[in-house]
Amino acid sequence: MLKAVILIGGPQKGTRFRPLSLDTPKPLFPIAGVPLIQHHIEACAKLEECKEILIIGSYTTAHMAQFVSDMQKEYPIIIRYLQEFTPLGTGGGLYLFRDQIRAGNPSAFFLLNGDVCADFGLKELWTFHNERSDALVTIMGTEATRQQSVHYGCMVCDTVTKAVNHYVEKPNSYVSTLINCGVYVCSLQVFHTMADAFQRKQDGFYSGTNGNSSPHPGYMSWEQDVLAPLAGTKKLYAMQVTSWWSQVKTAGSAIYANRHYLELHRERQAVPAPCHILPDVFLHPTAIVDSTAVIGPNVSIGAGVTIKAGVRIKESIVLNHATINEHALVMYSVVGQDASVGEWSRVEGTPSDPDPNKPFAKMDNTPLFNSDGRLNPSITILGASVVVPAETILLNSIVLPHKHLTRSFKHEIIL
Ligand code: GDD
Ligand code: GTP
Repeated sequence: MLKAVILIGGPQKGTRFRPLSLDTPKPLFPIAGVPLIQHHIEACAKLEECKEILIIGSYTTAHMAQFVSDMQKEYPIIIRYLQEFTPLGTGGGLYLFRDQIRAGNPSAFFLLNGDVCADFGLKELWTFHNERSDALVTIMGTEATRQQSVHYGCMVCDTVTKAVNHYVEKPNSYVSTLINCGVYVCSLQVFHTMADAFQRKQDGFYSGTNGNSSPHPGYMSWEQDVLAPLAGTKKLYAMQVTSWWSQVKTAGSAIYANRHYLELHRERQAVPAPCHILPDVFLHPTAIVDSTAVIGPNVSIGAGVTIKAGVRIKESIVLNHATINEHALVMYSVVGQDASVGEWSRVEGTPSDPDPNKPFAKMDNTPLFNSDGRLNPSITILGASVVVPAETILLNSIVLPHKHLTRSFKHEIIL
């Protein structure tokens, strides 16, 4: 029997995802029509041996209850949410809930960062791990560019055995282009290693030698306190994959992830198409779409959305109950829940895809503002219940929830 743990952080995290995460916790933001971490759940549920998924985070149970109950109905697997009383880091929550993970004596458990998206090859990862009897943890790794690699966990591996000899989390200078994907399979014995790490953290906390790195005595970094010390002991391995993988940190990366998940889940696409569709497009069955609209590629339309005559939408996500009025254009944008775009208006952003000319390039998770304090061009975001009047142009802008715009804007945050 196998289990899976999904780490989702809490309301303090995902700040680069604002304002999209103001109304919906980032792990529940819909990508290709389903909440971000439903893609993780689906990947775990596909494995017959996987019997339980524990979602660990510091969002309140109230935030997560509906989602967990929906998932429980959809997948034949036990799914539970475990709330940390305070953010305990990527290792602290895992250690706190170790008894729940160990219950039933699973052979191993998967550990998945909630903010990555991928064609999770969990079966291959499990087989790889199982073949190495001394392995405590196997990390799914992928190649990145030299320049981008330093924003991730970097690993140096033995070319034959694939044992990780060196692990540095977000190094200051170049270490390796093999990066940690935030997807792991762990043997239960890893909790012994964690117990030692926990003891060291506690000692440091109470003697004041941890510095600012541990805000709480139970705080532990899975990467720095567990993986880094395991490197070179022949208990840590990396399985390199070449399939699609990305982080979801910024709103721009949601559009990128949407494209790939739509491609992976073509079976969710509407047949027959209610209007001219350029694949891939996800249309919720309750969306009302005029037959003269043209939608796609890379568009997800949520529940109860109304799309009127002559509308053109591409490379965008339109959230539940939004209305796109006659002849409006929406491109490289996210339209929030209950928002409305007036007739003949144009809502447009700038794509922020990885550089197609650089092999292994990942998304650049550029901050909102550049060094002179100006907004970096990115996708346009309309917060929940925003109203864009008729015949206006909105370019590379972010509109916070509930604003009623009265004119056109470009390169602005509208508070
Ligand atoms: N439960 C819980 N509690 N989850 C947490 C906490 C916490 O206190 N802190 C972070 N997480 C979750 C986040 O929601 C995210 O899903 C995951 O743990 C990773 O946390 P980050 O702190 O955002 O790390 P990162 O994404 O910058 O880097 C990690 O992922 C990269 C791949 O995406 C590292 O594991 C890197 O080594 C790796 O390359
Ligand atoms: P990930 O995207 O999940 O990696 O984290 P993040 O976006 O929160 O990282 P970022 O570098 O933007 O922020 C680092 C930390 O600073 C966050 O985890 C928050 O604790 C804190 N922080 C950043 N911005 C704000 C803010 O506007 N308000 C508050 N309260 N805290 C913030």
